Amino acid sequence: MTKPLVYVTRKLAREVIDELREVAAVEVWEEDRPCPREVFLQKAEQAEALLTMLTDRVDEELLTRAQNLKVVANMAVGYDNIDAEAAKKRGVTVTNTPDVLTEATADLTFALLMATARRITEANRFLLAGEWTSWSPNLLAGQNVYHSTLGIIGMGRIGEAVARRAQGFGMKILYHNRRPKPESEERVGAGYRQLDDLLRESDYVVMLTPLTPETRQMMGEREFSLMKPTAVFINVSRGGTVDEEALYRALAEKKIWAAGLDVFQKEPVPMDHPLLTLPNVVALPHIGSATYQTRLEMAKLAAANIRAVLEGKEPVTPV
Ligand code: DGY
Repeated sequence: MTKPLVYVTRKLAREVIDELREVAAVEVWEEDRPCPREVFLQKAEQAEALLTMLTDRVDEELLTRAQNLKVVANMAVGYDNIDAEAAKKRGVTVTNTPDVLTEATADLTFALLMATARRITEANRFLLAGEWTSWSPNLLAGQNVYHSTLGIIGMGRIGEAVARRAQGFGMKILYHNRRPKPESEERVGAGYRQLDDLLRESDYVVMLTPLTPETRQMMGEREFSLMKPTAVFINVSRGGTVDEEALYRALAEKKIWAAGLDVFQKEPVPMDHPLLTLPNVVALPHIGSATYQTRLEMAKLAAANIRAVLEGKEPVTPV
C-alpha cells in the first residue's frame, strides 16, 4: 500500500520528519525561505497532509486543487493564513499549536514592553554610534514599568502568561475581550474594561488578540487618540489588527509615547516603511515564539496532529 504524502513547507528538526515518516511519505521544502506559491499548489494537489507556516496561504484556490487533502497542520497558534471555513466545508481538518508557545511568547511580549519603555535598542544604537559623551539626568530616560497599569487586549492563554509576569512588577492589570472572563480575573487578578476605558487608563496597551474580521484594524486613529501621551503600545498578535498609518501619526505627533512591534501588516516589513523611521518604535521580525525549545515543540505538535488524522484519530489541537 502506498503511503500518504505529507508536504512540509519548511526545514524542520530531523526527529519531527522521522516521526512523520513512520506513517507517511514526507517531502520537505528544504530552503530557509517560504515555499513558492506554485510549488506549494503543486504539492498540495498530491498531499493528504500539509504542515504549514504562517507564511503559507491556504485559500479557496489551494483547497480546490488539493482534492486528497485531509489535514492542514499550521505551525503557529494564529491561523489567519488559512481559510478555515472553506477547509471545513471540504472536510479538511485544520490544526494549530496552542499552549506549547504560550510562555515563550509571553517572555517576548514582556521583553518588548521593557525594551520599548526603557529605550533599550535606542540606547544600544546611541552607545555604538559613539554618542555617549557623559552621564546626564535625562539621557535616554524612559517610562516606569513597575506599579504601572497594563491593558491586555485579547486575554487568552498568552494574555494570562503576560499578566503573571506583570504581577511580578506590581502592575495593575486590565483586560478587554468580547466578553468578560471571570476565570482569568480570578487567576491573574485582572479587571475587565470596555475597550475605550482600557485605552484611557493603561500605561501599556498590549495587543494579543487573534486576527479575525472583527479585530481587523481594531486599533485606529480614534483608539490611539484615547491613549495617554505617555502610553506605550505593544503588538505581538498580527499586524492586521492595527491601522499602521494611524499608529504612525499617533507616534509622530506624540499622541502616544512609543510602540513595540513584533508584527506588521506586510511581512517582512518593507525597509522604507514610515514606522521604521521613528526613534520611538522598537521593531522586531515576528519572533514571538522563537526559542529553539518552543519551535521544536510547535513542530512536534503539528506533526502529532498530522499523524492523528492520518491514523483516523482525533487531532490533538484542532482549531
Ligand atoms: C503564532 O504562533 O501565531 C506566532 O505568531 C508565531 O510565532
